[in-house]
Amino acid sequence: MKRVCIIGASGKLGKYMVRYALDKGYEVVGVCREKSVKKLDEFKERISVVPGATNDSEVIKKAIAGCDGVLTVLVPWGVHQYSSGTAQAVLDNALEEARLIFSCGWHITQDGKDVYSKSFKRMLRFVSWIGKLFRLVEIKDQEKACELIFASDTKWTVVRGSGLEEGESQGLPLWSDHVGDSILASNMTRRIDFALFMLEALENDELIHKSPAIVGCQTPSALAHTPN
Ligand SMILES: NC(=O)c1ccc[n+]([C@@H]2O[C@H](COP(=O)([O-])OP(=O)(O)OC[C@H]3O[C@@H](n4cnc5c(N)ncnc54)[C@H](OP(=O)(O)O)[C@@H]3O)[C@@H](O)[C@H]2O)c1
Repeated sequence: MKRVCIIGASGKLGKYMVRYALDKGYEVVGVCREKSVKKLDEFKERISVVPGATNDSEVIKKAIAGCDGVLTVLVPWGVHQYSSGTAQAVLDNALEEARLIFSCGWHITQDGKDVYSKSFKRMLRFVSWIGKLFRLVEIKDQEKACELIFASDTKWTVVRGSGLEEGESQGLPLWSDHVGDSILASNMTRRIDFALFMLEALENDELIHKSPAIVGCQTPSALAHTPN
């Protein structure tokens, strides 16, 4: 892996990923909205930035040219098919051999075998309702984005994040194929470790065509599954 593109680089998850990618010695290209470019000032001399909407195929084509890894933040914000447009643009323009890693939440299901708690379903209904009401969030479009990815024969991985918190890294999150598995019960991951998992996935071919649901490695449910 030499050249990596981070789509949604100016967000919280994106900036953590930029840091890890630079630490790994990758050449980094970041994509973010024009108005957010200044959020990447701390990396100014070390990365190249392609400003623009991430669902604009021309922007993505330019940004991911020659990249053997693409890390994409699938954003549920907005009501203009932003997530699905972004996923489509990446799938259409990536190099055939490129590793494509996408971020989303536990609510996405690849095979319908995830089991959600009542409180999780209540929270999701609330977020979808309030998001629609204020035209802020479009959860359904993140689902559509993932359907496009699951149907693709590119080398994709969809990383499904639990509830997120800030804080210092605790190490690589643990993961499971299905929400509902007891290892995931704590439903919490440090955002910085979500980013670490995204980066590690680039080099882990066992995760190709999988949608790991992650949880912090120091959470009680993860520790209960970790041998002493
Ligand atoms: N937050 C959670 O609790 C949670 C839980 C599980 C999974 N996840 C997943 O984690 C990933 C990162 O989420 P995050 O919450 O941590 O956010 P984040 O990393 O801060 O990313 C937010 C992204 O959304 C963009 N954005 C914000 N408003 C937008 C708009 N109106 N139109 C287009 N783009 C917009 C931001 O771009 P600008 O910099 O240009 O504003 C930024 O790239 C997502 O894939 C999410 O599904 C989040």
